[in-house]
Amino acid sequence: MKILLGVTGGIAAYKSLELVRLFMKAGHQVQVVMTAGAKEFIQPLSFQALSGNPVRDQLFDENQEAGMGHIELARWADLIVIAPCSAETLAKLRMGRADDLLMTLCLATDRPIMLAPAMNRLMWSNAATQENVALLQQRGFEILTPAEGEQACGEVGAGRMPEPETIFSQAERYLDAQQKNAQAWAELHPSWQGKRLLITAGPTFEDLDPVRFIGNRSSGKMGFAIAEVAHKLGAQVTLIAGPVSLSCSPDISRLDVRSAQQMFEAVQSHYAQQDVFISAAAVADFRPANQSNQKIKKRTDQDLMSLQLVKNPDIVAWVAEQANKPFVVGFAAETENVLDYAQSKLKRKQLDMICANQVGKNLGFESEQNALTLVTRDAVEALMISSKKQQAFELLKFLASLHSF
Ligand code: PMT
Repeated sequence: MKILLGVTGGIAAYKSLELVRLFMKAGHQVQVVMTAGAKEFIQPLSFQALSGNPVRDQLFDENQEAGMGHIELARWADLIVIAPCSAETLAKLRMGRADDLLMTLCLATDRPIMLAPAMNRLMWSNAATQENVALLQQRGFEILTPAEGEQACGEVGAGRMPEPETIFSQAERYLDAQQKNAQAWAELHPSWQGKRLLITAGPTFEDLDPVRFIGNRSSGKMGFAIAEVAHKLGAQVTLIAGPVSLSCSPDISRLDVRSAQQMFEAVQSHYAQQDVFISAAAVADFRPANQSNQKIKKRTDQDLMSLQLVKNPDIVAWVAEQANKPFVVGFAAETENVLDYAQSKLKRKQLDMICANQVGKNLGFESEQNALTLVTRDAVEALMISSKKQQAFELLKFLASLHSF
């Protein structure tokens, strides 16, 4: 495998020499990129001697670029490891800066990036650093937990770079998982290539007046994850999104709606050309019977207030009734008796399949993770808790395995 090792400024930079040695001993090829800060702590020559490759440190150096251009270098790597990764580097990665060679490589690559943070304990626990770490994790960076102990500054706490052996074994495990993952994606790709998939995601907002609405806690993450994974598997995806603050790939055809009625109309205009319809949206079952044009005033003599609600159309049930319907997959968000309720929804709404999820306890709504139970009339498959992206992959794999699909 080809490892691109980024070394940034920190006293732990000298330990990365051992990391290069471990990678080389295991048969990997290593290219080292150093930042200006790293060179304050260690000479490039030491890395060059161990890796057998010239160290890269300049973005605009004709001689260095003549060997291998920076974009070529970004594509060369199977894995980018930044060790030590300074607080400054975390912040720059978060912002998407491209002000030196290492940052430019990270921005110009689609390869996995593993970070081994190393910094003073207060810098590590600072809210800004923690926010950067959380956001980078969300974007798919693999971030190792720093070790605890005595630090170069004399303080004791969490922030030391993990030992080279730990970084090495985590990188090996990660590469292994990545390889298996790539294989699984390649196997599933032909089943989804060119399939037309319609997905609803997110909540619906049912307006009461110009400032108030009835809504729910759906973030849209589950539906967007399905849309993204299906798109990467080669499907033609149409995503009908309720009011959410998520972005999606520009190749996904996206329609933004607000209310259940608007979502219904969007589905009605698109369902007929589809192979599969997945209804992951949390659609409001009812909407206010009357929508006021002005802000509804609070009456001082009023302790109780009632709202009259009317039923919204059941979108997924409507699609399932159509003669030219696609394969219809519903979702069921339940707080109890998850499987029982899901099975009865499957029958009542005449769906081909339903994905049941327990909501609450940090699962389902808003969270990054989920644990779906995939239910058809003949089969039940419970997935282990994992990221919504992984759940989406498993769901699409399950769908592809169905004879009726
Ligand atoms: O968006 P996230 O924060 O990532 O959270 C994901 C999720 C929990 C919202 C998602 O995984 C999920 O479970 N979505 C369905 C939630 C829901 O509304 O379930 P339900 O049991 O109320 O509805 C059953 C099915 O009927 C769903 O497929 C729903 O889209 C559909 N429905 C419901 C009412 C309605 N009027 N029209 C519909 O199409």
